[in-house]
Amino acid sequence: MEKTSVSRETFSSRFGVLMAMAGSAVGLGNLWRFPYMVSEYGGAMFVITYLVFMLVLCLPILFSEFIIGRRSQKNAFGAFRVLGKKKAWGLAGLISVITPFIILCYYSVVGGWSIYYLGKSFTFSSNLSQDYLSQMFGSLVTSVELPILLHGAFILLTAVIVMAGVKKGIEKFGKIMMPLLFIMVTALAIYSMHLNGAAEGYRFMFIPDLSLFSTKTCVAALGQAFFSLSLGCGTMLTYASYVSKDEDIVKSSVGIAFSDFIFAILSSMAILPAVFVFNMADAQGPGLVFEALPFIFSHMKFGGVIAVIFFVTLLVAALTSSISLFEVVIAYLVEEKKMKRGIACVITSIIIFVLGAFCSLSFGPLSELKIFGNTIFEAFDKLSANILLILGSLLTVIFVSWVMKKEDVIDEFTNQGRLKNHKKFFPFIWFIIRYLAPIIVFIIFISNFC
Ligand code: TRP
Repeated sequence: MEKTSVSRETFSSRFGVLMAMAGSAVGLGNLWRFPYMVSEYGGAMFVITYLVFMLVLCLPILFSEFIIGRRSQKNAFGAFRVLGKKKAWGLAGLISVITPFIILCYYSVVGGWSIYYLGKSFTFSSNLSQDYLSQMFGSLVTSVELPILLHGAFILLTAVIVMAGVKKGIEKFGKIMMPLLFIMVTALAIYSMHLNGAAEGYRFMFIPDLSLFSTKTCVAALGQAFFSLSLGCGTMLTYASYVSKDEDIVKSSVGIAFSDFIFAILSSMAILPAVFVFNMADAQGPGLVFEALPFIFSHMKFGGVIAVIFFVTLLVAALTSSISLFEVVIAYLVEEKKMKRGIACVITSIIIFVLGAFCSLSFGPLSELKIFGNTIFEAFDKLSANILLILGSLLTVIFVSWVMKKEDVIDEFTNQGRLKNHKKFFPFIWFIIRYLAPIIVFIIFISNFC
């Protein structure tokens, strides 16, 4: 194996690894994207499809990212290049570096909105009207300077944590913030339970209505599952390269997937009841969290405090994820391009800031500019979630099962044979990774274009 001139950091504890990886998974995808996906793509049918995809496809794909990352001990690009032995596989690695970049551009715009709402939540008065809130959201996203400035602030926060390094920055932040996040989201879900008529929201989320199911549900659910578990773009792979050889891949992956799902469900339980109780049918899509929640908060006891807690939660969750996206790019620049960590962080921040500014402007002055019928923001979102992540995951499973040596894969999966149980169910996982996952993922990828 090739030697890297840069000494590599590793995570220092099992808890630290788990928190950093769960931190990557749990983010705006759970608190902001999942609830509006559920409300747009079929309620409980979406939740069930999502769960099935997560168990059958995403877990094995997560194993695969673990295997590639830990085996190669490299950044996403280097991992594919070194283990793949052929230059062409470097291209797959490159996709894994470009995708987080694209995601970050719009992710940090939403991160910026969270900063705005956090600031505002200190002064929310009670009984705000729906109109007022939808105007507030509308005027924030359509204005020019403020959202760009906040997007810049979000990037800056991300860059500062990543600059501190894997142990002192990423691991430490995750270890403190993730447990806190869990407490806050649980508290919010319990709070929403007390809304009169919350049952309507739960019924929509938990009782399936077959008529709401379509191929769109599948594409959206798979895209969401990849997005939420940070799959298909080198994030988990890069983190896995910092994981010790003693870590149990299966246990860690299941822990990460489980916590991710719990967070998605809890945040929907916090948000969806409000949509039904207050009949907020208009607050659809990206604005859902920002319009529906402040509305309930302003109509309930202690709403002001709860609002502050929620937006702190949203911001922290967004940060633990954005640092993982950022780290993919930085690991690549440091290890492959031999850049200093600090310089890599500065350059990456600037480029993301500029591209993200266009995403932000696409709600205002550039709203007429359409790429295949999508605004720039939507195009970045769909290009990454529905196309690049699916393609990245497809390449990952093909790579593990058709390019890497089977013995190496088994070796990594079983910690050099020490985990005897894992050996027993390996053939089952192998079947999924080698045949089932590529076929299903490919079909869904194609159905995007039909
Ligand atoms: N999973 C994160 C979320 O739910 C976002 C994220 C971080 C991500 N890293 C990723 C999405 C890699 C796709 C790929 O918000």
